[in-house]
Amino acid sequence: MSALRQSGFSSYDDANFVRNAVNDGRHREAVGGMWDEMGSLQAEFLRTQGLLPHHALVDVGAGAFRAGVKLISYLDPGNYYAIDLAAEFLEAGYKREIEPAGLAERFPRRNFAATGAFDLSSFQRRFDFGIAQSVFTHMPIERLSLCLPAIQPYFNAGGKFFATVFLVPEGKARKRFKQLPGGVVTAPDRDPFHTTLTALHAVASQADGWRMSVIGNWNHPRNQQMVLFTRL
Ligand SMILES: C[S@@+](CC[C@H](N)C(=O)[O-])C[C@H]1O[C@@H](n2cnc3c(N)ncnc32)[C@H](O)[C@@H]1O
Repeated sequence: MSALRQSGFSSYDDANFVRNAVNDGRHREAVGGMWDEMGSLQAEFLRTQGLLPHHALVDVGAGAFRAGVKLISYLDPGNYYAIDLAAEFLEAGYKREIEPAGLAERFPRRNFAATGAFDLSSFQRRFDFGIAQSVFTHMPIERLSLCLPAIQPYFNAGGKFFATVFLVPEGKARKRFKQLPGGVVTAPDRDPFHTTLTALHAVASQADGWRMSVIGNWNHPRNQQMVLFTRL
């Protein structure tokens, strides 16, 4: 029997899946592969959105630091932070990616934490930027309604939190949908999950202290769309 961490939305909630992937040396593949491409895409995107070296950024659902390896050297030392549900991904990423790349001094261990509750309290600072790339595509969009109030106290006014989602037209939401490019088949009720603009607006309407805007296409190779929440 698999050891489910929370509600079993995806294989990331299965501790055995994560442990086996890490033990087999497959941490890069387990967070989605396309290691350099997806790391660079996130870093480039954030720079075009105004990320500067003096900003503090939190990577929500950071996995093994696919974006971190690109962002840590750009940001001033100590300004990259990360949380993930899976401590094993964070550890593997630190030992196999961060330390060999000589990035540990710029990203001390106190800058990352394992939490499934979007808890940023241990970092004791406020953030200017955040990103959750391919995180809410692995759980029902209602989970974003838990994330936004949890992280809100730790963002500066004007701070930007980016999240990716799979979107489908309203009339197609109840069935499976083939996302192009990439060919990923998304579903309303299982991983990988899709959502709609209406559902996103419902999430946003309940998210005190945030204003939502839909950015949409950001050249994600599997058609994940970008949504921005700005801290009021
Ligand atoms: C597809 S991976 C993406 C990782 C990273 N954002 C990247 O682009 O490489 C999804 C990540 O979300 C994490 N995750 C799933 N549920 C989470 C939760 N409730 N809180 C934080 N991280 C979560 C998984 O453990 C996994 O590392």
